[in-house]
Amino acid sequence: MKIAVAGKGGVGKTTFTALLIKQLVEANKGAILAVDADPNSNLNEALGIEVHASIADILDEVKGGKAIPEGMPKDVYVEYRLSQVLNETDYVDLVVMGVPQGSGCYCYPNDLMRKYLENLRQNYDYVVIDNEAGMEHLARRVVTDIDYLFVVSDASARGIRSAGRVFDIVKTVGINVKNIYLVITKVLPTGIEELKPEIEATGLEVVGTIPYDEVVARYDLAGKPLVELPADSPSVLAVKNIFSKLAL
Ligand SMILES: Nc1ncnc2c1ncn2[C@@H]1O[C@H](COP(=O)(O)OP(=O)(O)OP(=O)(O)O)[C@@H](O)[C@H]1O
Ligand SMILES: [Mg+2]
Repeated sequence: MKIAVAGKGGVGKTTFTALLIKQLVEANKGAILAVDADPNSNLNEALGIEVHASIADILDEVKGGKAIPEGMPKDVYVEYRLSQVLNETDYVDLVVMGVPQGSGCYCYPNDLMRKYLENLRQNYDYVVIDNEAGMEHLARRVVTDIDYLFVVSDASARGIRSAGRVFDIVKTVGINVKNIYLVITKVLPTGIEELKPEIEATGLEVVGTIPYDEVVARYDLAGKPLVELPADSPSVLAVKNIFSKLAL
């Protein structure tokens, strides 16, 4: 099962991803691989996992062949190094994609990342991908064949319109997505009634909303992992409710 989370910058993608993983872990659903595809990569902090290197770091390392031991084929070395970027914990494994340095063609790194992820995913029941705001990985088809795509928006008209554009990209690029849902975060007690026309215009179905949760803000401020949020905090309960609606 491949689950991806997308949306504009700062709307709450990483928070939602971490809380969804928390639900999967607590429901004891099987082996989970978390993929941080955001260049700002902070999913590890939300999950409380220390990370040393990303896939892109490895690719940069072998660029030009400097790091490769003499006599070792590049592919073999890359594979060996990639086997070391997997961060394993008792409840979830995490891999950070990172951003390849330099300009020019991204075909080689993209190709490698895609192949690496396709191989890696065979070992897991769930792959959960926290995408970057720019949707590059989706647009470049590094991430394909998604069972659930969650487009996250904050409770603003601009956020919702941006979510609509994400949906347009998905349709244009022709990524194979089985289920696509809108998740609205940081909802104030006044609700989302005013946003109804904007939401309808996107053509997306709202699977649930997440209230503005001061505890989330406090945890982030203190650098505390969001997976440790109390079970009764409003954001955790909201994601639990969303989780219960899915056939996961
Ligand atoms: N439900 C919520 N209640 C209160 N604050 C929230 C909530 N969800 C997210 N935030 C806050 O919003 C900010 C952005 O959240 P988050 O990092 O999850 O967004 P993002 O979409 O992953 O951002 P980026 O595009 O930078 O990766 C953080 O400061 C976080 O604490
Ligand atoms: Mg993020």
